[in-house]
Amino acid sequence: MSLASVIRSEQKLLLPTYDRHKILLERGRGVYLWDARGNRYLDFLSGIGVNALGHGHPAIQATLKHQAGRLIHVSNLFFHKYQAELAARLTRISGLKRAFFCNSGTEAWEGALKLARSYARVQNSNGHKPKWRILALDNSFHGRTFGSLATTGQAKYRDPFAPLLPGVSFVGFNDTEDLRRHFDGSVCAICVETIQGEGGIRPISKPFLQLARKLTRSTGALLILDEIQCGLGRTGRSFAHQHYGIRPDIVTVAKPLAAGLPLGAILTTNRVATAMHPGMHGTTFGGGPLTCAVAIQFLRLMEGLLPHVRKTGDYFRSQLEGLKARHGCVREVRGMGLMLGMELNSANTAKQVVSQLMQRGILINRTHETVLRFLPPYIIEKKHIDQVIRELDAALSYGSSIGASRKAQKSTARSQS
Ligand SMILES: Cc1ncc(COP(=O)(O)O)c(C=O)c1O
Repeated sequence: MSLASVIRSEQKLLLPTYDRHKILLERGRGVYLWDARGNRYLDFLSGIGVNALGHGHPAIQATLKHQAGRLIHVSNLFFHKYQAELAARLTRISGLKRAFFCNSGTEAWEGALKLARSYARVQNSNGHKPKWRILALDNSFHGRTFGSLATTGQAKYRDPFAPLLPGVSFVGFNDTEDLRRHFDGSVCAICVETIQGEGGIRPISKPFLQLARKLTRSTGALLILDEIQCGLGRTGRSFAHQHYGIRPDIVTVAKPLAAGLPLGAILTTNRVATAMHPGMHGTTFGGGPLTCAVAIQFLRLMEGLLPHVRKTGDYFRSQLEGLKARHGCVREVRGMGLMLGMELNSANTAKQVVSQLMQRGILINRTHETVLRFLPPYIIEKKHIDQVIRELDAALSYGSSIGASRKAQKSTARSQS
């Protein structure tokens, strides 16, 4: 099937939810992808942070083949040996004590919100005032289901589906005074992405996170961190919050956990776990033997890659800073480890740069209109970064000249009208 016929069929048959790039991908190996015409792409987006081990990793393939031949699904009505082993690994690296497995990021986030409401109810069972408000941050992104949307601090995602879950208030990003203003004893949880991903690769500040931890401790509310994009090795530590020396009550993870298969997890403390009983929450598919076996293999490999992620991340960042010094259109370079963003001065320039890079065989994307997002696999090497920097250098020159000429055209048109 050609790209054109796939596009035609999709236009007729699918809900029009995606505006895809016109590339028909066929296979992958390591840090590279190939399209149906045989063009090769250096993958610096890894399926939005999912393919952290690149494509076709031999150990993942071997686990997949082995487990697919034995047992793929059993439902959560029965035991299999992998959930407990995966939970043991995740709790060891997080310092948390309990896990729940589901199928996606948004499902992990929904479960975390339910846990927070349920925990507050258990805590307040002796006639205290209601404690059900949730504080979330401006500019955040937690997923597409109703609870996740309700806590997502970007109106463009929420507004078409209103009314949403009640009881959510938004606090200015990194605004400690605003957090103090919104917080009181009726709050059951403060929700934070340790590094905002869709919101433009923005790390939370240490003073803000410390204050959120202090306030929640003072009333028995929960601090919930969304590490669906920034967790599991992406920043060079197992969890991004480990850079801050703060332990949350709940962490959600997903994207890279099962190396491309759908798997999410909620991690929490023994104390918070007391708020759940059999029948209160569950899933048909979540935590099946195939996904869990692959996730165990992923975590084994991830731990060994952390120093490499830190080293390559530092190098990549220094090179991006070098480009900032050379190109006036670059506003800021942000992020940690291999979760990096480059904010440009216009959405149009960012669009041009992404498209130029694609034409030059490099896949990245644009988030929050003006930010180039880099989420490469953890296995990239210096030579791959050097290639991206070279091509980005050329694309930034081209993109800003196109941006400037568009601006000039617009102002000429305006002065003529
Ligand atoms: C921080 C964060 N939370 C939640 C989600 C939702 O995850 P999913 O698309 O797997 O539902 C995403 C997805 O991009 C994310 O980046």
